[in-house]
Amino acid sequence: KKIYVIHGPNLNRLGNREPDIYGHLTLEQINQQLQEKATTLGWELDAFQSNHEGKLIDAIHEADTHYDAIILNPGAYTHYSYALRDAVASITVPVIEVHLSNIHARDSFRHHSVIAGVAKGQISGFGSASYELALLAFQQLFALEEIERM
Ligand code: DQA
Repeated sequence: KKIYVIHGPNLNRLGNREPDIYGHLTLEQINQQLQEKATTLGWELDAFQSNHEGKLIDAIHEADTHYDAIILNPGAYTHYSYALRDAVASITVPVIEVHLSNIHARDSFRHHSVIAGVAKGQISGFGSASYELALLAFQQLFALEEIERM
Protein backbone atom coordinates (compact mmCIF):
# COMPACT_ATOMS: atom_id res chain seq x y z
CA LYS A 1 0.00 0.00 0.00
CA LYS A 2 1.02 3.58 -0.63
CA ILE A 3 0.19 6.19 1.98
CA TYR A 4 0.32 9.96 1.53
CA VAL A 5 0.65 12.15 4.61
CA ILE A 6 -0.39 15.75 3.98
CA HIS A 7 0.39 18.41 6.57
CA GLY A 8 -1.24 21.82 6.35
CA PRO A 9 -0.23 25.33 7.42
CA ASN A 10 2.20 26.04 10.25
CA LEU A 11 3.01 22.39 10.81
CA ASN A 12 6.50 23.08 9.41
CA ARG A 13 6.95 25.03 12.68
CA LEU A 14 6.53 21.92 14.86
CA GLY A 15 9.24 21.57 17.47
CA ASN A 16 9.22 25.33 18.10
CA ARG A 17 5.52 26.00 17.69
CA GLU A 18 3.58 26.12 21.00
CA PRO A 19 5.31 22.97 22.32
CA ASP A 20 2.91 22.75 25.30
CA ILE A 21 0.14 22.08 22.79
CA TYR A 22 1.91 20.39 19.88
CA GLY A 23 4.90 18.67 21.55
CA HIS A 24 8.62 18.91 20.92
CA LEU A 25 9.02 16.73 17.84
CA THR A 26 9.79 18.42 14.54
CA LEU A 27 7.79 17.60 11.41
CA GLU A 28 10.83 15.80 10.07
CA GLN A 29 10.99 13.58 13.18
CA ILE A 30 7.28 12.82 12.95
CA ASN A 31 7.62 11.91 9.26
CA GLN A 32 10.61 9.71 10.10
CA GLN A 33 8.61 7.82 12.75
CA LEU A 34 5.74 7.36 10.33
CA GLN A 35 8.09 6.15 7.66
CA GLU A 36 9.47 3.49 10.01
CA LYS A 37 5.99 2.41 11.09
CA ALA A 38 4.89 2.15 7.44
CA THR A 39 7.95 0.06 6.59
CA THR A 40 7.13 -2.43 9.37
CA LEU A 41 3.67 -2.75 7.79
CA GLY A 42 5.28 -3.33 4.40
CA TRP A 43 3.93 -0.06 3.03
CA GLU A 44 5.39 2.96 1.27
CA LEU A 45 4.84 6.41 2.73
CA ASP A 46 5.40 9.89 1.31
CA ALA A 47 4.89 13.12 3.21
CA PHE A 48 4.10 16.64 2.02
CA GLN A 49 3.64 19.94 3.83
CA SER A 50 2.37 23.26 2.56
CA ASN A 51 1.22 26.54 4.02
CA HIS A 52 -0.86 27.22 0.91
CA GLU A 53 -4.46 26.15 0.50
CA GLY A 54 -4.20 25.68 -3.28
CA LYS A 55 -1.09 23.54 -3.01
CA LEU A 56 -2.82 21.30 -0.48
CA ILE A 57 -5.78 21.00 -2.85
CA ASP A 58 -3.45 20.09 -5.73
CA ALA A 59 -1.73 17.48 -3.53
CA ILE A 60 -5.10 15.92 -2.65
CA HIS A 61 -6.16 15.77 -6.32
CA GLU A 62 -2.84 14.23 -7.40
CA ALA A 63 -2.93 11.69 -4.58
CA ASP A 64 -6.14 10.22 -5.96
CA THR A 65 -4.38 8.30 -8.71
CA HIS A 66 -1.11 7.54 -6.90
CA TYR A 67 -1.99 6.50 -3.33
CA ASP A 68 -4.22 4.04 -1.47
CA ALA A 69 -4.82 6.24 1.56
CA ILE A 70 -4.34 9.80 2.77
CA ILE A 71 -3.60 11.00 6.29
CA LEU A 72 -4.46 14.69 6.40
CA ASN A 73 -3.75 17.27 9.08
CA PRO A 74 -5.37 20.35 7.55
CA GLY A 75 -4.16 22.68 10.37
CA ALA A 76 -6.38 25.72 10.80
CA TYR A 77 -7.98 25.06 7.36
CA THR A 78 -9.82 22.28 9.19
CA HIS A 79 -12.17 24.83 10.63
CA TYR A 80 -13.13 26.89 7.59
CA SER A 81 -11.78 25.70 4.23
CA TYR A 82 -14.73 24.55 2.14
CA ALA A 83 -12.31 24.34 -0.79
CA LEU A 84 -10.23 21.71 1.05
CA ARG A 85 -13.40 19.90 2.05
CA ASP A 86 -14.57 19.84 -1.58
CA ALA A 87 -11.15 18.52 -2.65
CA VAL A 88 -11.45 15.63 -0.17
CA ALA A 89 -15.02 14.98 -1.37
CA SER A 90 -13.84 14.93 -5.00
CA ILE A 91 -11.49 11.95 -4.63
CA THR A 92 -12.13 8.26 -4.04
CA VAL A 93 -9.03 7.51 -1.93
CA PRO A 94 -10.01 7.36 1.76
CA VAL A 95 -8.83 10.23 3.96
CA ILE A 96 -8.34 10.17 7.72
CA GLU A 97 -8.23 13.59 9.37
CA VAL A 98 -5.70 13.89 12.17
CA HIS A 99 -4.80 16.50 14.78
CA LEU A 100 -1.99 16.52 17.28
CA SER A 101 -4.09 18.42 19.80
CA ASN A 102 -7.63 17.59 20.91
CA ILE A 103 -9.48 20.22 18.88
CA HIS A 104 -12.64 19.60 20.91
CA ALA A 105 -10.92 20.67 24.13
CA ARG A 106 -9.58 23.98 22.79
CA ASP A 107 -10.94 27.33 21.53
CA SER A 108 -14.55 27.03 20.41
CA PHE A 109 -13.61 27.97 16.80
CA ARG A 110 -11.53 24.76 16.70
CA HIS A 111 -14.40 22.48 17.76
CA HIS A 112 -15.89 22.33 14.30
CA SER A 113 -14.23 20.60 11.38
CA VAL A 114 -15.56 21.19 7.87
CA ILE A 115 -13.39 18.24 6.74
CA ALA A 116 -14.70 15.57 9.14
CA GLY A 117 -17.97 15.05 7.24
CA VAL A 118 -16.15 13.95 4.09
CA ALA A 119 -13.32 12.05 5.84
CA LYS A 120 -13.36 8.38 6.75
CA GLY A 121 -12.86 9.49 10.34
CA GLN A 122 -11.03 11.83 12.66
CA ILE A 123 -8.23 11.20 15.17
CA SER A 124 -7.49 14.11 17.50
CA GLY A 125 -5.53 14.64 20.67
CA PHE A 126 -2.78 12.03 20.78
CA GLY A 127 0.15 14.19 19.75
CA SER A 128 2.35 12.66 17.07
CA ALA A 129 0.72 9.29 17.86
CA SER A 130 -2.44 10.62 16.14
CA TYR A 131 -0.68 10.00 12.81
CA GLU A 132 0.41 6.49 13.82
CA LEU A 133 -3.12 5.68 14.96
CA ALA A 134 -4.31 6.73 11.52
CA LEU A 135 -1.90 4.21 9.98
CA LEU A 136 -3.31 1.50 12.28
CA ALA A 137 -6.85 2.55 11.34
CA PHE A 138 -5.97 2.10 7.67
CA GLN A 139 -4.45 -1.31 8.42
CA GLN A 140 -7.79 -2.29 9.96
CA LEU A 141 -9.81 -0.79 7.07
CA PHE A 142 -7.72 -2.60 4.44
CA ALA A 143 -8.07 -5.89 6.35
CA LEU A 144 -11.85 -5.46 6.47
CA GLU A 145 -11.97 -4.68 2.74
CA GLU A 146 -9.97 -7.85 2.13
CA ILE A 147 -12.48 -9.92 4.09
CA GLU A 148 -15.41 -8.32 2.24
CA ARG A 149 -13.81 -9.24 -1.09
CA MET A 150 -13.61 -12.93 -0.11
C1 DQA B 1 -4.07 21.21 14.48
C2 DQA B 1 -5.24 21.89 15.21
C3 DQA B 1 -5.68 23.16 14.48
O1 DQA B 1 -6.74 23.78 15.20
C4 DQA B 1 -4.53 24.14 14.38
O2 DQA B 1 -4.92 25.27 13.64
C5 DQA B 1 -3.31 23.50 13.79
C6 DQA B 1 -2.92 22.17 14.23
C7 DQA B 1 -3.51 20.02 15.28
O3 DQA B 1 -2.80 19.21 14.70
O4 DQA B 1 -3.74 19.92 16.49
O5 DQA B 1 -2.60 24.13 13.01
O6 DQA B 1 -4.54 20.72 13.23
